[in-house]
Amino acid sequence: MVTAPNFRDKAGLPAGLRTRDLLELLVDGRFRSGDALGEAAGVSRAAVWKLVEQLRAKGLPIEAVKGRGYRLARPVELLDATAIAAELAAVYPEALPLEVLFECDSTNRILLERARTGAAVQALTTEIQSAGRGRWGRNWVAPFGSTLCLSVLWRFPVLAHGLAGLSLAVAVGVAESLEAEGAAIQLKWPNDLLFEGRKLGGILVEIVGEVEGPCAVVIGIGLNLEAGESIAAQAGQPVAALNESIGERARARNNLTARIAAAIANTCKQFETEGFSPFSQRWQRYDLFAGAPVVLILPNEEVRGIARGVDERGALLLERNGELEVRFSGDLQLRLRRDPAA
Ligand code: BTN
Repeated sequence: MVTAPNFRDKAGLPAGLRTRDLLELLVDGRFRSGDALGEAAGVSRAAVWKLVEQLRAKGLPIEAVKGRGYRLARPVELLDATAIAAELAAVYPEALPLEVLFECDSTNRILLERARTGAAVQALTTEIQSAGRGRWGRNWVAPFGSTLCLSVLWRFPVLAHGLAGLSLAVAVGVAESLEAEGAAIQLKWPNDLLFEGRKLGGILVEIVGEVEGPCAVVIGIGLNLEAGESIAAQAGQPVAALNESIGERARARNNLTARIAAAIANTCKQFETEGFSPFSQRWQRYDLFAGAPVVLILPNEEVRGIARGVDERGALLLERNGELEVRFSGDLQLRLRRDPAA
């Protein structure tokens, strides 16, 4: 709800009409004139235009058509803390505070900073993430409205099993919760989520403290809900989006956020007492590369073999010359038939 502003903020814009408020008037995909938007918000057309330009600069696809006005190129369900909290209470009975930001650099970075200053278990999501972090120092590109960016800060006491396998366990928990929504999910070691062999989402686990506990971890997940050109162009690998698998259901961003947050929290609780072991068979059920010729890319070498699933710690089992090797890190790729060593 937009209230008529009666004072001006530093940028010279009415304080009552912030970018998110304007967005609320644009998200249903219907055209509204600058006059109508200004009237609804109690500001001038010029103020509306200025805010539209600010949103466009952040990558929002706002169309402007002469005589019709402005609209978002496609309808988007905006993230809403109250709606997510209600959904979360229905699927996760314990307390998991979840904050929604309009814009930030990286939800993982923010929660890591909070973890270092002693913050308790919590979750954070954002509408716009400008400097998303991926594995191996990569960027995570998250265009407005078509992805989920969620981080969960979790605290572990002393861990008998250590943290090895946590990111794979989280991938299993998320895969199972998406499967419950009807999605066909595959996993690529260690923790990529895929649909039909293309990347749907990724998980980044960052640690504060000792790996054997007590420690805090920040578990970040990025999930493509609707693939757009900007994701395809920057990911450097084939990408997929959840709507390819579950259609319109992928637009229910608040509900999906709650379910994924609950899945991560439940996974952390089970992992705390049992380690990766109970997730091992469950991970294997989604294993895209089971029995396939693969190459494991490491910083200074490439190791070829046949993927044979994971062990009880979440390590990759790689068959080479009839022997099983245990590998704890690397980036896995399928070997193509034309590869002479395949
Ligand atoms: C990967 O490289 O596959 C992992 C990508 C993880 C991206 C998510 S988006 C939410 C959270 N915040 C970040 O900065 N990164 C993670």
